[in-house]
Amino acid sequence: MNKALRQVIIAGNWKMNKTRPEAKALIEQLKPVAAKASCGVVICVPFTNLETAVELTKGTNIKVGAQNCHFEKSGAFTGEVSADMLKEIGAEYVIIGHSERRQYFGETDVTVNKRTKAALEAGLKVILCVGELLTEREQGVTEEIVGLQTKIALLGVTKEQLKNVVIAYEPVWAIGTGKTATAEQANEVCSYIRGIIAKLYDKAAADGITIQYGGSMNPKNAEELLAQPDVDGGLIGGASLKAEDFGVLLDAASK
Ligand code: 13P
Repeated sequence: MNKALRQVIIAGNWKMNKTRPEAKALIEQLKPVAAKASCGVVICVPFTNLETAVELTKGTNIKVGAQNCHFEKSGAFTGEVSADMLKEIGAEYVIIGHSERRQYFGETDVTVNKRTKAALEAGLKVILCVGELLTEREQGVTEEIVGLQTKIALLGVTKEQLKNVVIAYEPVWAIGTGKTATAEQANEVCSYIRGIIAKLYDKAAADGITIQYGGSMNPKNAEELLAQPDVDGGLIGGASLKAEDFGVLLDAASK
C-alpha cells in the first residue's frame, strides 16, 4: 500500500463550539497557519457558522464542512438540515456517522448509509466515521465492529462516488478522553479498513482512499500517529479549537 497515492487530510471537528464572532476570530488565526500546510485542511463547523466560514475562507486552502446532514431532500424533519442545503451554502465536506451522533442521537449503521448516499448524491465529500467502544475492544471484536460499520455505510456507494469519501477511524474510548490509541493500534485498524475497501471495490480504490485517525490527537502525539503507513491524516476535536495546536498538527501532516 503506497501512502503517496492518497491525500493526507487534517480535518477539525469543532463539534458544538464557537459562536459566530468566536468562529471568525479562530478562522482569522487559522488562515496564516493553514497557508503553510501541504496537506488538505478542512474545518467542520456548526451549521450556524457555515456561511461565515465559507465567506472567510474564500481564496484560502481551508475547506469547510458540516458535521451531519439528513438523508431526505426536504420535508417534515424538524431541526434537520439536508445535504442540498449544505451544498448550496458552500460546504464541501460533511461528517457522517460520528460516534457522538451514534451515541446520543440514535444514529445507526442504516441511517449512516442513507446519509452517506444523500450527501454524495448532493455533491458533498463525506468524512465517514467508524470506531469501536471500549467494551468491544476488550471483547476482541474491534475488526468485526469496524468492518460491519464500514460495509453497511458504503452499501450502494459506487467506486466513482468512493473518490469523495474519506474514512475516519475514531475509537470511541479515545474521543475527548486524552486516551489515544497507540500508533500501532491506529495503524492496525486503518490498515484493516483499507483491506475491506480492497475487498468491496479493488486495490486501486483501497490505495487511493484517505483513512484518518481521530481520538485525542494532539501536538504531542500527532507526529508518531501520522508517520504510520496507513494513517492518512486526522479528524481532530479539542486540538482543532486552538489555532496554535491545529498548526502543529498541520505541520506534522505536511512532513
Ligand atoms: P478529540 O480530538 O477531542 O478526542 O475528538 C475527536 C473527535 O471526535 C473528532 O471527530
